[in-house]
Amino acid sequence: MMHSTTTATCTAAERVVVESFLGGGDHKTLADDVLDGLTRPFKELPPKHFYDAHGAELFDQICDLPEYYPTRCERAILTDRSAEIVALTGAAELVELGSGTAAKTRLLLAAMHEAGTLERYVPIDVTESMVRASARRLVEEFDGLHVHGIVGDFERHLEHVPPPIAGKPRIVAFLGGTIGNFTPGSRRRYLRSLAQLIGPDDFLLFGTDLVKDPKIIEAAYDDSAGVTAAFNRNVLTVVNRELDANFVPESFDHVAFFDRDREWIEMRLRAQRPQRVLVGKLGLRLTFAAGEELRTEISAKFTPERIRGDLAAAGMELVDSLTDEDGLFALNLARIRA
Ligand code: AVJ
Repeated sequence: MMHSTTTATCTAAERVVVESFLGGGDHKTLADDVLDGLTRPFKELPPKHFYDAHGAELFDQICDLPEYYPTRCERAILTDRSAEIVALTGAAELVELGSGTAAKTRLLLAAMHEAGTLERYVPIDVTESMVRASARRLVEEFDGLHVHGIVGDFERHLEHVPPPIAGKPRIVAFLGGTIGNFTPGSRRRYLRSLAQLIGPDDFLLFGTDLVKDPKIIEAAYDDSAGVTAAFNRNVLTVVNRELDANFVPESFDHVAFFDRDREWIEMRLRAQRPQRVLVGKLGLRLTFAAGEELRTEISAKFTPERIRGDLAAAGMELVDSLTDEDGLFALNLARIRA
């Protein structure tokens, strides 16, 4: 046997582990959410059900729309400032919640590679094919990188994030502004659960869309090409397919408005006329009055005060808030409060 002081190198394939925590009861959460949300006086469904294969494709199209600035702004910040983030954190590991195609992530990984600290990437996403594809791609691109993929829901499966590499700082990243999808109390509760993943030398990196002229925000959620409208209606298609329902998606109008008091965007589906819907698998009969609205998403917009207040409520503090040149979007670096 060869004696060597260097670590044995392994092939790209050997550097990938993917674990799945989505069982057969996968769409049970959809059923429960439909039972809760569609029997309320004000009907509501959580936004996570937008993202079946078609919905994920529509979301990718949204990111390329001229009106939808958040993705471009966040990418610009990462392009300009990843090296700085990596120098400040010394991170060897990147844990990413809702990693998707990991398109923006590679900017951070490249900076970590460049700094010579990169060891492990832990993507968490509900779509197994995306976790596997990005894992394969990234171990090829960055030699020595290990990927430990988690196929699961970033709300329900945080406990399966592997323990940190001893003595090595990590960044837990929650990009895109998805934290804005939580209602305010749940947002703080979720930040508290993220604080559990973060040791004294670790960092939370999260994107937040910022409060600005409502016209700019509303255009981003009601684009002229109608892609966001199709994305919104797609949740009805998902319920039809998964729960054997008979929604007619075309009979609902897409509604998006900025709530100036709450400072969040709200997306709704408005029934064009009275209608009855049967959700077959649940034996659930629904009626919609003409003009009745179903809320499908909130997307909170942030001020520095809101960011600091939420972090403080979760026992964390803001280290730095990086914005794009137009001040539309912020990428925030936080740590456990000293
Ligand atoms: C993926 C949650 C960040 O809130 O802007 C885009 C989703 N909804 N257009 C957002 C979305 C309508 C997006 N996030």
